Amino acid sequence: MRVTLEICRFTPERDPGPRFEAFTVSVNGTRTVLDALLSAWQQDPGLSFRRSCRSAICGSCAMLINGRPALACQTLVRNAVSGGNSVTLEPLPHFRPLKDLVVDLEPLFESLKAVVPWLVLRGDYDGRMDPETAAKLEESAACILCGICRGDLGETAKGKPEGVVKALRLAQDPRDALGEHRLRLLELSPEVLKLFVDRLPRHCPKGIKISEDIVQAARKL
Ligand code: SF4
Ligand code: FES
Repeated sequence: MRVTLEICRFTPERDPGPRFEAFTVSVNGTRTVLDALLSAWQQDPGLSFRRSCRSAICGSCAMLINGRPALACQTLVRNAVSGGNSVTLEPLPHFRPLKDLVVDLEPLFESLKAVVPWLVLRGDYDGRMDPETAAKLEESAACILCGICRGDLGETAKGKPEGVVKALRLAQDPRDALGEHRLRLLELSPEVLKLFVDRLPRHCPKGIKISEDIVQAARKL
């Protein structure tokens, strides 16, 4: 099918403001928006965007697709065009634009650094974990640091949503010496943590869910 990509072009040091440029590409509807974007890039190698894995693993192709945050490599062209034959592509709005679809991810990395984002192994850990706990941790460990949840949760989470997701996961890990003390370090009320439980699955491309248990644990601290 023939698809027109309306792509935001912007070089802040040079341009007065963002503008859209249309690229018409031929692509099978079962291919992804990232494939269509790669075809557009063949037409103009100066077009800037990030991608690496093409498998919804690295998180680097997050952008606004028709105004909604999504991974370009996880969105099929036939779903994106939904009736018409054009798709708009813009950078994630809650980061500083660097060029075209590329944004400055420094706040995301700062958000992680702020929460001790690694396992602090308990001295008395015996190496065992029951399958139910392992399954629960695996679900919330799927974060690919795409930055999409920042739009919905950034303000709520004092500007560090990715760090909060990481801290909530580690707080439930029986191997971690900080454990539920991490909830205190976050300085977020149980009500705010409940927003993570409720809102995260709405936007997260990995469908991450934070267990309600975390809210109950925070209430007891
Ligand atoms: S929690 Fe989900 S939306 Fe947020 S950064 Fe991780 S993968 Fe992306
Ligand atoms: S290219 Fe890695 S998540 Fe899309």
